Amino acid sequence: MIRLSACIALLGITALAGCSGGGKEADNGAITVGFSQVGAESEWRTANTRSVKEALAEPEFQLKFSDGQQKQENQIKALRSFIAQRVDVIAFSPVVETGWDTVLAEAKAAGIPVVLTDRAVHVPDESLYVTLIGSDFVEEGRRAARWVVQDSAARKGPIRVVELQGTVGSAPANDRMKGFREVIDQDARFQVVRSQSGDFTRAKGKEVMEAFLKAEGRNKIDVLFAHNDDMAIGAIQAIEEAGLKPGEDIHIVSIDGVRGAFEAMKDGKLNATVECNPLLGPQLAALIRDVHARKPVPKRVVVEEGVFTRDQAAAELPNRKY
Ligand code: AHR
Repeated sequence: MIRLSACIALLGITALAGCSGGGKEADNGAITVGFSQVGAESEWRTANTRSVKEALAEPEFQLKFSDGQQKQENQIKALRSFIAQRVDVIAFSPVVETGWDTVLAEAKAAGIPVVLTDRAVHVPDESLYVTLIGSDFVEEGRRAARWVVQDSAARKGPIRVVELQGTVGSAPANDRMKGFREVIDQDARFQVVRSQSGDFTRAKGKEVMEAFLKAEGRNKIDVLFAHNDDMAIGAIQAIEEAGLKPGEDIHIVSIDGVRGAFEAMKDGKLNATVECNPLLGPQLAALIRDVHARKPVPKRVVVEEGVFTRDQAAAELPNRKY
């Protein structure tokens, strides 16, 4: 489900349409799309890649896909290679928010429109990209915090919270942290005692949670907020290995809503997950079609999402598509 963001700022495409150069259509008339993906760091990401590849497998597109392996330098190289090949449209999910100005200016100079998917960039000149389709990460952080406040209604303070952040400098890590603090800081019972990056992976989530448990020692950790389900699943292992019960001794909320999270909730080990929908492929394909045809598109397209708790897990699990 996609709704058009209230802050519709049409275009940006007109600026690009006026540029010299322009894409070279494939011999069969298909729209050539260069897509640079972040990597394969999480269940969410693999579902997102599948969705994009499936949607752009239609004969009207010719997809050139590149995996950035979570490195900005790889993504910049991929974008430059797409520019050199004169693709019609570049789509990409930027691993971090900053550092894109030069390469995006090169795409603009070549007359190649850029569509951002999933994650945002910070560029002073917003005409460097046409549109961004993805989740409202600040709202996801707020939703996680609202769940924590509600879950802790009967508890007295202090309530000790630890946070596993996503990739440093990425839009979801920055925004989820911001949204979470916005809500949690209004209730003096909560103290975020540790906050560190687990890079959105299970292995790192486990490693950092082990360090949290060790550093806190006898100090009880009440709540874990993980910026994605994979890190929460890794942390669950660390909590069990420390002889504690995840979901009981430490209440856990994370973000994404992947099948692994629903299974953990069904087993009582994860308390809640805030949905972040990775199935952006069909909407991305529609946007690319419009951008290529130089039709006006919204500057921001936001995906609508919900929150799921343990009591809903068993019923919802068969309906999950990722
Ligand atoms: O950008 C979306 C985030 O990236 C997802 O929450 C996370 O799982 C992924 O790696």
